[in-house]
Amino acid sequence: MLSSKVSSESHGQDSSYFLGWQEYEKNPFHETLNPSGIVQMGLAENQLSFDLIETWLEEHPEVLGLKKNEESVFRRLALFQDYHGMPAFKDALAKFMAKIRGNKVKFDTSKMVLTAGSTSANETVMFCLADPGDAFLIPAPYYPGFDRDLKWRTGVEIVPIHCVSSNGYKITKVALEEAYERAHKLNLNVKGVLITNPSNPLGTSTTREELDLLLTFTSSKNIHMVSDEIYSGTVFDSPKFTSVLEVAKDKNMDLDKKIHVVYSVSKDLGLPGFRVGLIYSNNEEVVSAATKMSSFGLISSQTQHLLANLLSDERFTTNYLETNKKRLRERRDKLVMGLKKAGIGCLKSNAGLFCWVDLRHLLKSNTFESEHSLWTKIVCEVGLNISPGSSCHCDEPGWFRVCFANMSDQTLEVAMERVKYFVEATEMSSYGGHRKRTMWDSRRKSLINKWVSKLSAGNCESER
Ligand SMILES: Cc1ncc(COP(=O)(O)O)c(C=O)c1O
Repeated sequence: MLSSKVSSESHGQDSSYFLGWQEYEKNPFHETLNPSGIVQMGLAENQLSFDLIETWLEEHPEVLGLKKNEESVFRRLALFQDYHGMPAFKDALAKFMAKIRGNKVKFDTSKMVLTAGSTSANETVMFCLADPGDAFLIPAPYYPGFDRDLKWRTGVEIVPIHCVSSNGYKITKVALEEAYERAHKLNLNVKGVLITNPSNPLGTSTTREELDLLLTFTSSKNIHMVSDEIYSGTVFDSPKFTSVLEVAKDKNMDLDKKIHVVYSVSKDLGLPGFRVGLIYSNNEEVVSAATKMSSFGLISSQTQHLLANLLSDERFTTNYLETNKKRLRERRDKLVMGLKKAGIGCLKSNAGLFCWVDLRHLLKSNTFESEHSLWTKIVCEVGLNISPGSSCHCDEPGWFRVCFANMSDQTLEVAMERVKYFVEATEMSSYGGHRKRTMWDSRRKSLINKWVSKLSAGNCESER
């Protein structure tokens, strides 16, 4: 009945990444209304700094009132549909992106194509650079949404570059060459490499050395280099963020037509609902084709108007970026500490809205089946929706992505208490199946009771 493309599996919706969200939707945690529900830790949302944007909006009522110098801009905005975007908005976005990169790179607005978020930007880049059946190499583990965004409608294939925990998931020359060879053996024409810097799901930024290696590799093979820098403003710890554009400049490749950057304000500003993203490229042909294609996913004029005003306020952006990073760092620390108390470690992170957590010691065997049953238990019994490594195409069973910026401090505490009790109950294997189970159930009940009584005593702090 439907087209083969629409019915194809490559959308990836059966991945546990999306299934976990469905479980969460059926029984979402709420501090008072559903304290035994599932805590959503599988969603890379940044809710830590909304108050800063809300304060700015309160101080600038004319912007939401669609007024400028006391005159209405409503009619102008209502009619605006130029797919090149509003110059004032692009200027403000270019300055914001340069600021995130310590002003080491400048952005030329004529090389920018606006899109409805990075989802649209990534797909558009694939449409521009590759034909169905061509391939892009991507360091794995990678963002589960790429199966949908890069492959589904374009027909492009993803070939993972296998990165391993033993060296902190570094991108190496050997891994790059091996992926390239593997693609060739599969008769795939490799059109480029796509990285996410900082990495989703690892929460680490790509080092200067890795970027140097990547550019040397892509230019030696005469293929494209795409860098999704959607988390660039979240780098809260050293090493600081280095964009591929900065390294390209150092290598005198700053005008290279095969280097492209994708960005959006979904993570850094926590505004995924605004659908604001872009492609940045030195390649006029890519810019021209992508601009034509952007008709399928333009950014609404009132969103451009609002963000043009917000992002051109230098005092706001400076304070926002600093404060947001500080809050993310504190949150990461809180998560790491909570996990440590339960005897759980994670990859050392310096960016993003999540940690890459090592639960290998809780697996019954070193298999993805075992990872899946642990994940099911964590979602359905412990009540935490986290994303298993397999959904991110990780090669080693037992790693999980755990998000920390989409909830209140109190909810994170509840999650950490649940983890601790779960690990204790699991480790008491000598108690045997039934007894162990009963113990976990009663611990979980006591945890919920404790939480409810804490709330009724008025101890609950409000959400930040
Ligand atoms: C690496 C990466 N790219 C793209 C996206 C999609 O972002 P957007 O909301 O801007 O479409 C995400 C969202 O999680 C992501 O993590």
